[in-house]
Amino acid sequence: MNIVKINDNDKTKYMDLLLIADEQVSMIEKYLYRGDMFALYDDGDDDVRAICVITQEQADTFELKNIVTVPKYQRKGYGQKFIAFIVDYYNKSGSELYVGTGDSPAILRFYEKCGFVKSHIVKNFFVDNYDHAMYEDGQQLIDMIYLKRDL
Ligand SMILES: CC(C)(COP(=O)(O)OP(=O)(O)OC[C@H]1O[C@@H](n2cnc3c(N)ncnc32)[C@H](O)[C@@H]1OP(=O)(O)O)[C@@H](O)C(=O)NCCC(=O)NCCS
Repeated sequence: MNIVKINDNDKTKYMDLLLIADEQVSMIEKYLYRGDMFALYDDGDDDVRAICVITQEQADTFELKNIVTVPKYQRKGYGQKFIAFIVDYYNKSGSELYVGTGDSPAILRFYEKCGFVKSHIVKNFFVDNYDHAMYEDGQQLIDMIYLKRDL
């Protein structure tokens, strides 16, 4: 496995993947250039498996703003390995890692499997901040559920 940091100039090459996790370009642009982007590759080829973007929100607090595993490579453990890498990468710089997500049981299960616990809710985040209604497994996304884990 090989994880590389992506330069600012190359970040937009991954926009199609970023849009799988966060459906609006203007929302992605709010964190893309102030965040670190990483891409995960597996041994033996140059096919990207997963990408993520992490921002620093406070002196000791980081936030996972976007993580996506290329659909054909999902459920093969890449997401979990990526989170383990992120925790290892930032644990000397901070103490907590947050992530915000819609109220989707599958995604919440993923984060809980990765050691996150529920933290707080931002009411109406998705209806207040996006220009269209979004759905996950047939359910409209309304509130942002924040989870956190120790770094
Ligand atoms: C969330 C996501 C990044 C997970 O990546 P992944 O590489 O598929 O995750 P992993 O294979 O490491 O999964 C680890 C564990 O999380 C849980 N999990 C992952 N995806 C799940 C799903 N769709 N339903 C239920 N549990 C799931 C499982 O317990 C899984 O372990 P298992 O396969 O041994 O049962 C991926 O599904 C994705 O890219 N989704 C679309 C983008 C997105 O919604 N991103 C999050 C935005 S907040």
